Amino acid sequence: MTAELSEPYGSPLEEPASAPTRRTFIAATTAAGGAVVAGGLVGVTPPAAAAEAAAAESPPSSRVALTVNGVRHTAVIDNRTSLLDLLREQLGLPGTKKGCNAGACGACTVLVDGRRVNACLTLAVRLEDAEVTTIEGLADGDELHPLQRAFVEQDAFQCGFCTPGQIMSGIGCIEEGHTGSHEEIREWMSGNICRCGCYVKIVRAVEQTAGGK
Ligand code: FES
Ligand code: FES
Repeated sequence: MTAELSEPYGSPLEEPASAPTRRTFIAATTAAGGAVVAGGLVGVTPPAAAAEAAAAESPPSSRVALTVNGVRHTAVIDNRTSLLDLLREQLGLPGTKKGCNAGACGACTVLVDGRRVNACLTLAVRLEDAEVTTIEGLADGDELHPLQRAFVEQDAFQCGFCTPGQIMSGIGCIEEGHTGSHEEIREWMSGNICRCGCYVKIVRAVEQTAGGK
């Protein structure tokens, strides 16, 4: 006797014409999933990302009014702008040099209200009504500042990149009265690096100016 084998629910290989096949089901779900992912990445911007993009487009800015070399300036600046970048990029005063841009070399030294500061570490937005003096503000027409003259006479530079910062720092050093000896001058000028190694002559130039020679 031959047992008649029958599938109680029909053959697994035979599906009703209207039912989705395995192939069409996978294709349909893959397409739907892709659309959702694409929507998440492209079509819909998460709120945090939108806020970040908006902030990048218009960073917080402020108006600052200050006097540089006797000239009053008003500027609208990104709040993160350093005094160094304000001077060089917005006020057209490139004499102050950008060396390390991190407070380590002294190339950017300027005077703010008579005190020497590293302009790269000073936020311009904090300088409302400040008096800033840069290397461009020292000479009186063709008449050099005594320390500028001393640098020339002592041959206290080679490439000259550090020189504006050295001179501004030297003026601060003299004003502060730290010129009693070579050692004292060296100590109080130690924040100003000279890669050309002109230290001996820089000290002589500061000493010469302090002594009024
Ligand atoms: Fe400011 Fe070096 S550029 S300390
Ligand atoms: Fe060249 Fe000082 S003169 S770095």
